[in-house]
Amino acid sequence: MVEMLTNHQTQPRPPMWFMRQAGRYLPEYRKIRSDVPNFLSLCYTPDLAAEVTLQPIRRFDLDAAIVFADILLIPDALGQTVTYVEGEGPRLAPVVRSISDVERLQRRGVSDHLKPVYSTLSQVRSSLPSDKTLIGFAGAPWTVAVYMVEGGSSSQFMAARSWSASRPDEFAELIELLVVATIDYVDQQVAAGADVIQLFDTWAGLLPPPGFQRWCVEPVAKIVRGLRVRHPDIPVIAFPRGAGTMLHKYDQATGVNGISLDPTITPEWACEVLGRSTVLQGNLDPAVLVAGGEVLEQEAHRILEAFAATPHVFNLGHGIVPETPPDNVAQLSEIVRSWQRSGR
Ligand code: CP3
Repeated sequence: MVEMLTNHQTQPRPPMWFMRQAGRYLPEYRKIRSDVPNFLSLCYTPDLAAEVTLQPIRRFDLDAAIVFADILLIPDALGQTVTYVEGEGPRLAPVVRSISDVERLQRRGVSDHLKPVYSTLSQVRSSLPSDKTLIGFAGAPWTVAVYMVEGGSSSQFMAARSWSASRPDEFAELIELLVVATIDYVDQQVAAGADVIQLFDTWAGLLPPPGFQRWCVEPVAKIVRGLRVRHPDIPVIAFPRGAGTMLHKYDQATGVNGISLDPTITPEWACEVLGRSTVLQGNLDPAVLVAGGEVLEQEAHRILEAFAATPHVFNLGHGIVPETPPDNVAQLSEIVRSWQRSGR
């Protein structure tokens, strides 16, 4: 997968991993999760985090492991209190809604706070077969900021959207702080053994084109440039979910090696517009993975065939959901493993 991303080469079959491949849909994850007091203590205990990172690799023989952590560890390291409420998602307090709230965040010690994640990476690297890729990750600044401003998940994320539109120079202070923290975080992840970095911009699709340019494109471009000062060859994949036709400019302006596509993007469009310069990752609908059976077979083949001529990493268009039957993930990994490019 690393050579594919670095040299833009196709392989006999696409490498595969699945966003959110570790987690509650796996009984072996739920077992470990039930033994820790809360989700963050799982993220901050390298032995356990390394174990749950490896669970889906053992079960499905996937081509890449993604370190078990969360995009909200950065706000936690910056001094917001982050908790995960069963059935409701994350809660962050106090919310960040003004310049003085930004100034109150703890800029120092962020990297020390995140040391357990680097230990998880080095532990996973030492037990992962050398032909498997180890992926490190972070949230992109816009997506992390929307959780920090909103205080959790939300249907509209209106507080963040209106702040970024009405007082952009203030909001820029928060984004800039996240850019700096994220460069250091991903830099240390690479030093600890990550082969590839994935940046999750789950809420990129909330922004109109000028906001998308300022809050998604420019910060990610800065992170890529900052990371490459110390690690010039490290491949980066970005997931600007919901970016639609703005993906074209995003690809050119950020300098990423790969783009993770959400399920709404047609492979033909992506191959035509992005495929010559970028590795394409995606984009099976997670609901089809819940469905399984014949529809999964058809959809997986549609995607495999449509991306056959371009360097492609098989993945979902968003994360695996907790109600996914593990047998369907086994079915999908078999489909991808046994697929052969026809006539090429
Ligand atoms: O295999 C993996 O991908 C595991 C590592 C991982 C987690 N979160 C573990 C997790 C990764 C890569 C993430 C990314 C993440 N976290 C994103 C971006 C990708 C996406 O899905 O859009 C976002 C937006 C978050 C923030 C987050 N973390 C939310 C909204 C929630 C609650 C709802 C949910 O999806 O579960 C979390 C909690 C979380 N992160 C869990 C896991 C396994 C479940 C918590 C638990 O076990 O109690």
